[in-house]
Amino acid sequence: MRRFGDRLELSSRAHIAKCDVPGRKKEKMKIPKSENRFDSNWSGNGTRRANEQMRREGPRAADEGTRRFAGIPVRIFVCALVLAFLPFLRIGAQSAGQWKLPDIPWAFPIRDKVQPVIDERSGPQHVPGSTKSYTQDQIDDLKNPPDWFPDEHAPMPKVVAHGAEGGVLGCASCHLASGLGHPESANLAGVSAAYIKRQLSDFKAGNRMGEAMNDMTRNLSDEDAQQASDWFAALQPKTWERVVETDRVPKTFINQHLMRMPLPGGADEPIGDRIIELPQNVARAESRDPHSGFVAYVPKGSLAKGKEFVTTGGNGKTIQCAICHGPALNGLAEVPAIAGHSPMYLFRQLYYFKDGSRHGAMGALMKGVVAQMTQDDMLAIAAYVGSLPPGNEESSSSGPAGQLSASLAAGPNDRKATK
Ligand code: HEC
Ligand code: HEC
Repeated sequence: MRRFGDRLELSSRAHIAKCDVPGRKKEKMKIPKSENRFDSNWSGNGTRRANEQMRREGPRAADEGTRRFAGIPVRIFVCALVLAFLPFLRIGAQSAGQWKLPDIPWAFPIRDKVQPVIDERSGPQHVPGSTKSYTQDQIDDLKNPPDWFPDEHAPMPKVVAHGAEGGVLGCASCHLASGLGHPESANLAGVSAAYIKRQLSDFKAGNRMGEAMNDMTRNLSDEDAQQASDWFAALQPKTWERVVETDRVPKTFINQHLMRMPLPGGADEPIGDRIIELPQNVARAESRDPHSGFVAYVPKGSLAKGKEFVTTGGNGKTIQCAICHGPALNGLAEVPAIAGHSPMYLFRQLYYFKDGSRHGAMGALMKGVVAQMTQDDMLAIAAYVGSLPPGNEESSSSGPAGQLSASLAAGPNDRKATK
């Protein structure tokens, strides 16, 4: 198998003329040669269709995960109540064979066929505060991603840094060496290890469908899964997103790496019913700099609407999230932290729970939560949850439900993403 980096089409990497990185040359408008999603299509010049085909043929083998987790002890008593509804809730589940990426491009990004005028980033790249340098080719080598700040985390297990045989890429390439990830991937920093491990099994077994991860887990060994889970769980959760309500957003496009970027020229457009997440600094995001976060633009009114659902259950339309996710939504036992995670990611998960693409043993607890939600509700909830401060697992601060309102009442705050 060829190295992953060999498959990247670096000549067509998208770069934005506007961001002020010195030494860039403008290129002509060009159409990328490949539509590889996340550049992770082993067969080279794959089309979206070929990719879906691979998914169909992919994760069929293992229902091992289902068996293993079917008997997981549910530690939260409220969850036990919901379990009573399981047989009923699972009806909506789809089989892996039928799965395809939902057609909501703002949340489930598809690379734009025509990429805008771009700049090449040639020569060694740097990020503020790091003494290291990498070329863009090195930065985009998903089997050997950059580690700008090695002192900020425990040594990476091999699978996190370099991946493994059989198409497993280095986890740190998409999730960053901080675990904070990009909006098109996921934030794993400080999320419970048991939860991460379960997700890897669910992806592998086809009980959870999503971009890239079914491919990443197909040949992932149990030992690598455990090491990666422990390592990401030990990372520090950090504020990484700034959530901003607005009527208008910059015009944008989806680049080669499935990241949304502002179009050069500075034009804007109505936000509509979308969340638009952009890097706070384009060049630093393209360097996979773990110190430079994102801004999530959300429609006006989303935060108040989302808060209502999250804190009260919206008059029975859903269930108060803190019951299971912990008072400040920073996780409780094996229920994951969601506060301060990317709103676009959160929306995708709510959508997947509802359409049945995510139906692992514990995921069934979310079925009742989303059953009556519209896409607009999900958008508002995702915006609000994304605006909450991330923190450590709840063990130290759990308390009576009364604390919930106190911690959530603080509400969204306009926080700086970079520290
Ligand atoms: C090519 C990019 C890529 C690589 C490499 C990658 N991931 Fe992911 N990962 C993703 C994307 C994209 C998602 C989000 C899928 C979705 O939208 O549901 C994700 C989601 C996840 C999730 C779910 C997070 C949650 O909160 O439920 C876990 C866990 C995860 N990845 C672990 C890993 C581990 C461990 C590795 C290394 C073995 C890895 N990933 C490598 C792209 C990647
Ligand atoms: C009855 C318990 C329960 C309630 C109430 C609940 N959740 Fe969950 N939630 C879970 C469990 C358990 C998981 C993990 C599922 C899995 O392992 O796949 C989860 C997972 C999620 C995820 C996926 C996280 C990730 O990183 O991928 C999101 C997003 C989420 N919940 C949002 C919410 C929101 C928003 C609310 C309130 C409106 C809510 N949940 C209420 C139990 C609950």
